[in-house]
Amino acid sequence: MNTSYRSRWFDVCWCACYTLHEIDETGAYLSMENKQELYLRMNRQIQSVLEGCELPLTAMANTCAILYSELPGLNWAGFYLMHRGELVLGPFQGKVACMKIAVGKGVCGTAVATGAVQRVADVHQFPGHIACDSASQSEIVIPLSVRGEIIGVLDIDSPLLNRFDETDQQGLEETCRILMNAVDWTGGLLP
Ligand code: SME
Repeated sequence: MNTSYRSRWFDVCWCACYTLHEIDETGAYLSMENKQELYLRMNRQIQSVLEGCELPLTAMANTCAILYSELPGLNWAGFYLMHRGELVLGPFQGKVACMKIAVGKGVCGTAVATGAVQRVADVHQFPGHIACDSASQSEIVIPLSVRGEIIGVLDIDSPLLNRFDETDQQGLEETCRILMNAVDWTGGLLP
């Protein structure tokens, strides 16, 4: 083996090890490549778990259980659902959370009012952020729509600053697409 060949192999192995070690339990050092793989694997798992389950509440319960156990660096993952003009707490994993949020209030209410994903690197800088758990530092909220109407949001919190990047957003938007396609929303939450 000549020197340059050996050095190329060293580079390949070093990269592989480095990439593996980038996944730690805090989620802070996930490499882009591994993060995409993680979302692909997790979303496949969600798709397969939801197969044959058309009940929205049941599907949301298992979706947030998978999100919470598979994604590193979270302290809350769950759903708020539109009910009589406001958001109410739905299935979730994590500590006790506030039960009602007005449209336009907090990160969740802002996601409903604007219809746009809210990716907040530092919740303390977000005007009107509702702190259910003082440990939360960053948050991502994805609106869920049925035929153009927002029926709720997926809300995920992290005790790490700037936990959610574009890759997380794309992966979680795909999670929401899988959920919304899997269930039958025509009969309400628990038909
Ligand atoms: N932080 C959210 C409230 C819900 S908890 O994070 C579970 C907000 O500002 O809307």
